[in-house]
Amino acid sequence: MSNYSTYLTEALAVARTAGSIIKEAFLNRASLHIDLKANDADLVTQVDRNVEQVVFSHLRKAFPDHRFVGEESVSESETKRTGLGSDDTPTWVVDPIDGTTNFVHGFPFVAVSIALVINNVPVVGVVYNPIMEELYHAVIGGGSYFNNTPLPLPPIKPLPSLTTALIAAEYGSDRVPEILDPKMSTMHKVIAAPVRGVRSVGSAALNLCYVARGTLDLYWEAGVHAWDVAAGAVIVREAGGILANWKQGERQDGVETYDLCAREVLCVRKTAGGVEEAQKIIESIRQRLESVEYARD
Ligand code: IPD
Repeated sequence: MSNYSTYLTEALAVARTAGSIIKEAFLNRASLHIDLKANDADLVTQVDRNVEQVVFSHLRKAFPDHRFVGEESVSESETKRTGLGSDDTPTWVVDPIDGTTNFVHGFPFVAVSIALVINNVPVVGVVYNPIMEELYHAVIGGGSYFNNTPLPLPPIKPLPSLTTALIAAEYGSDRVPEILDPKMSTMHKVIAAPVRGVRSVGSAALNLCYVARGTLDLYWEAGVHAWDVAAGAVIVREAGGILANWKQGERQDGVETYDLCAREVLCVRKTAGGVEEAQKIIESIRQRLESVEYARD
């Protein structure tokens, strides 16, 4: 943990600054300027761009040798690629507002998401929802916290099957049939398991944090970007949850590796039945997933 504490301190400090900007803009959102990205369901505001620059300039001052990847700069770049994995430079991966549609509509599930990724592994994660005053943070090997309380929150219940699960699933912003059809078909198969309930929070980062808390039992999505999930990835794993890709990955020290650029996520909370029980849930979701083709990050 101590190796990463300077990084965490700076990430927490700038998350607070970003949070004040986001909250102020959320309360005065009548004057927001909204632009469309890929389609009518893919939004960006001047607040997203501004917050990204504020976070970058704070972290750049503290860590001038690091690299910076953010949702808005990648979206506006020619390649639209993150460059993650091209070398071993420590890289800050930032979503200035995860839940931009929520932000625009005044639905309070909005967060800044800040992660430090080293050799493709997220090692520090901070997710802050300034509207609901929820701050999540984790550092690899140091546990996860929600407003400084360790995660998961008690009680840690068993999860013997999907039938008692409250799950998160998102539709994402793509509306073309090649993407929407397999997603809807997967959604149908998972709901028909049957699961107990489905929630669409509208923020991948917060979905991951709710799984880390134990409030949601599991979450899956295709189409997420590295900046949506990098911080939440550390928070879920450090809270004892399982985080995986849709297809089974290699194992390192008994833990499946997670490919951050694969545009997909699948996770299950810590359960009273231990890793085997959670792994069974992962497998029962995997049986129902229909793959969706996305360009890698
Ligand atoms: C989106 C949110 C949403 C998820 C999308 C993301 P944004 O991020 O996390 O919940 O379904 O896949 O792109 O655009 O609000 O930063």
